[in-house]
Amino acid sequence: TYEKTWLAVSMVLIVGFIATVTYGAVGPGIAMIDDDGGSIDPDTINDDERFNDPGVTHVGENEYEAAVVAQAWTYTPSEITVPANSTVTFYVTSRDVTHSFTVAGTNVNTMVVPGQISEMTVEFDEPGEYGILCNEYCGAYHHTMEGKLNVV
Ligand code: CUA
Repeated sequence: TYEKTWLAVSMVLIVGFIATVTYGAVGPGIAMIDDDGGSIDPDTINDDERFNDPGVTHVGENEYEAAVVAQAWTYTPSEITVPANSTVTFYVTSRDVTHSFTVAGTNVNTMVVPGQISEMTVEFDEPGEYGILCNEYCGAYHHTMEGKLNVV
């Protein structure tokens, strides 16, 4: 009968609605990450050649890539140097817990989640020194987790 059909349709809609709400609640944490590389197993970060030997790579005229690994309570490398008037794409991942990669005085402020790669591209016009710091509580020495970015 029509009644049974409509009951079945209603059930499908309700289940669909619950699924949407659940996805919405879980989604924002993932959506905050500018995730270029998709999910990877934190234990296999070394298989990604960018993180095998983290650091700055010159990839084009005025273009650089900086691979950074966050791990309690350091960044590797702890110091990054790029020339002025360059465009730098940061690829940052974590080997343990959630950290952040924040470059003081810029708009670089991203969560760094184990198994994910956070990507940000920034232009650095003027020479200067920028502090890199962790804004996500990551344990006893969270407050000591810092690095340095030199634009020369
Ligand atoms: Cu890493 Cu706080």
